[in-house]
Amino acid sequence: MKSIRTRRFLGLAAATLAGLFLAACGKQEPPPAPAPVASAPAPAKVYTVGTDAAYAPFESQNEKGEIVGFDIEVVQAIASKGGFEVKFVNTPWEGIFNALAQGDRDLLVSAITITEERRQTMDFSDPYFDAAQLIAVRADSQVAKFADLKPLKVGVQTGTTGDEAVTKLLGKTSTNIKRFESTPLALKELESGGVDAVVADNGVVTHYVANNPGGKFKTVSDPEFVPEQYGIAVKKGNAELLAKINDGLKAIKADGTYDRIYAQYFGTPPAAAAPASAASR
Ligand code: ARG
Repeated sequence: MKSIRTRRFLGLAAATLAGLFLAACGKQEPPPAPAPVASAPAPAKVYTVGTDAAYAPFESQNEKGEIVGFDIEVVQAIASKGGFEVKFVNTPWEGIFNALAQGDRDLLVSAITITEERRQTMDFSDPYFDAAQLIAVRADSQVAKFADLKPLKVGVQTGTTGDEAVTKLLGKTSTNIKRFESTPLALKELESGGVDAVVADNGVVTHYVANNPGGKFKTVSDPEFVPEQYGIAVKKGNAELLAKINDGLKAIKADGTYDRIYAQYFGTPPAAAAPASAASR
């Protein structure tokens, strides 16, 4: 939506400039050839954004195959503030950081938790979302806390912070950790009984349980899970793009755009939700 508006504005601007130019030249006079080129508006830069679009409500594909979600709208809003355009490309999680490092993607938005380890190989924007791990189990499960998962089969998405947490609890060599290439696949396995629990980001687990009618699943939270924050990633050293993103993020937080997107997806405004969740840690 935003990028269409941006394009329309640029189109208008170009038409206006052309009109002024014609008016200034008059019909009889041949236009002085190369001069106007410099004043023509530069085409907006289009950045390629990688996202693993199987992580609703942050990023997913709708029935039309369009990539939609909270992260998508946040980045679109940032881009429209910064006067640049973005094109989202569905990118499997397992190759996503590599795609950034190789230059196949200019930025990544994928509910990516900012971690010290990841900071070694990429740069992150200011945090834009608070998260934590959350456990999904079948409704009749006895699991009441994270430690209860120790003897159980646990599903995670490979290479996520959920994977890290479960690997720490069950041990690196545990065969009870079932790793999946996407979180929906892990959750499918919970449904079919192949695993006893899934550990993933709270927003995604909550969304899944809420959207599975019949109360087949429930969530279990645990203060053991460390607070996480999502960031938008750019290639290490891409300070120019990082500054654009951080400026845009500040701007959409200041003018209420961020809060509007947040409320659309999560209801409670972040200003009210953030201190409460921090205090409960
Ligand atoms: N926040 C977690 C992490 O950074 C999971 C993110 C998974 N995102 C996705 N779109 N599949 O490890």
